[in-house]
Amino acid sequence: MIPKLLEAKIRTIYPESFDKFNTIVKLKKSFRVNTLKISKKELIERLNFFEIEKIPWCDHGFFVSNENITNTIEYFLGYYYIQDSASMIPPIVLDPKENELVLDMTASPGSKTTQMAALMNNKGLIVANDINMKRLTALRFNLQKCGVANAIVTNLDGRWIHNMQVSFDKILLDAPCSSSGTCISNPNVFSSWNQGKVNQLSRLQKQLLESAYKCLNEGGVIVYSTCSIDPEENEEVIDFAVKNLNLKTEKIKLNHIKTRDSLTVFEKREYDSSVKNAVRINPFDNMTEGFFICKLRKY
Ligand SMILES: C[S@@+](CC[C@H](N)C(=O)[O-])C[C@H]1O[C@@H](n2cnc3c(N)ncnc32)[C@H](O)[C@@H]1O
Repeated sequence: MIPKLLEAKIRTIYPESFDKFNTIVKLKKSFRVNTLKISKKELIERLNFFEIEKIPWCDHGFFVSNENITNTIEYFLGYYYIQDSASMIPPIVLDPKENELVLDMTASPGSKTTQMAALMNNKGLIVANDINMKRLTALRFNLQKCGVANAIVTNLDGRWIHNMQVSFDKILLDAPCSSSGTCISNPNVFSSWNQGKVNQLSRLQKQLLESAYKCLNEGGVIVYSTCSIDPEENEEVIDFAVKNLNLKTEKIKLNHIKTRDSLTVFEKREYDSSVKNAVRINPFDNMTEGFFICKLRKY
């Protein structure tokens, strides 16, 4: 059952899709080729017993119809990484380069860190941070399994990470969130969702974004993302950033995926017009998890 307050939000944001939010969908499984270990061509040849289909918006991503995709030698060798197809987008938007110093502020279990390491050809440096020691075990395991050699792992509260006094060219803040956008395939999200938690997360997200801003080089880029559909965790955080920090939003160009403009008004709140540059991914437009993604540059 969708909580009443969340229902009201969905009816405002995605009125035409509301009925679909009431039904659980089995999303197609998807994976990303780990180009640190194998080429796309070679992996696809080796996985010829899978029914696979290219993910149109991610060069190294594939949908797969088979259920048991963890049951292969190639999976154990780290040749591919199982990841939701929308979750592959924030690193593509950040576009980290081989010579850059990159912070993955909330990195565990490492889906996006491993993707960024591959985009950087294991060059440059990624600081992969997470506050949660238990989740760091998964992060370290995934980095090792994928052959990532350009990352160091830290266990800090992202709100104070600027005290390290290191400044970065690019920062990914894939923020802790209510995960309400994952409700398409995970009904349990509804039972743990409540407005108090959303408000608390919104405060944390603003603090994390402010800390990211403080350790970003001038001209540097932050990509802020959540898998939440709640405006308090999305547009409201970006509104805070553009009004209080020297950050400007930039347009995001994504091909072959349906995105929607983010909101400039929600209930009685009006957000800065530049928040419109952020994109929303409605889970039912592309049958993915729901996402919110914003690109910000320090000036
Ligand atoms: C959405 S998950 C990140 C998923 C990850 N980026 C990936 O793609 O695999 C959010 C992460 O934020 C971490 N986190 C929560 N509060 C934090 C804080 N104050 N500082 C650093 N990490 C935090 C959580 O432990 C969790 O692992």
